[in-house]
Amino acid sequence: MKDEKYYKIFHDNLKWVADKNNADKDFFSRHYEQQTPDYLYIGCSDSRVPANEITGLAMGDLFVHRNIGNVVANNDMNMMSVLQYSVEVLDVKHIVVCGHYGCGALKAAMLPHSFGVLDNWLRNIRDVYRFHKLELDGIDDVDLRMDRLSEVNVKEQCLNVIKTAAIQESYLRKGYPLVHGWMYDMRNGILKDMNIDFESLLCKVQEIYNLSDDVKNPKYFNVYNPPKPKN
Ligand code: CO
Repeated sequence: MKDEKYYKIFHDNLKWVADKNNADKDFFSRHYEQQTPDYLYIGCSDSRVPANEITGLAMGDLFVHRNIGNVVANNDMNMMSVLQYSVEVLDVKHIVVCGHYGCGALKAAMLPHSFGVLDNWLRNIRDVYRFHKLELDGIDDVDLRMDRLSEVNVKEQCLNVIKTAAIQESYLRKGYPLVHGWMYDMRNGILKDMNIDFESLLCKVQEIYNLSDDVKNPKYFNVYNPPKPKN
């Protein structure tokens, strides 16, 4: 049934359109012409983690991909297409994987029983749990263990971004995009940069997953030509 709450969406939309036009008469036509976002944001579908709102970025600033548990799976053609389009066409400068504490997907992944068709998706997160089982099982408090799983999941998904040819080739040729891991805390609204070391992760990834051609060419930064240490 279409109730009042449903119709309110369209009523509010018209009010929003009027406000935008009043403030800037070219607002919609300008955005219609093109988009030039600097960021690709990969986050969780959770309704409490709205990408533009938590970053304060405006319309056109953020290219967004969301799924359950902010997973980057190489057999997910949706995700892989978003990545390639962002890097090769939109020319984004940063790729962010944003996890959040209290994620239902991670709670489910930590329970060793079936959730039906969702099991196939949770497999990606259960694999992360398996990689980090030793550390995670050493944390007695269940909530803290889940918080830590959220963080290592973000790091693993950043690695999955870095494993792709699109990112490796773009970075070696253009020096971007950089890959970042963020955590959003729903308890207080704070967004935290996990400060992952992108260059050293890239170097490590390329020992096994190098997909860029011309690997020994000194103009490319890779495992054969590692970055100069920072002072
Ligand atoms: Co979530």
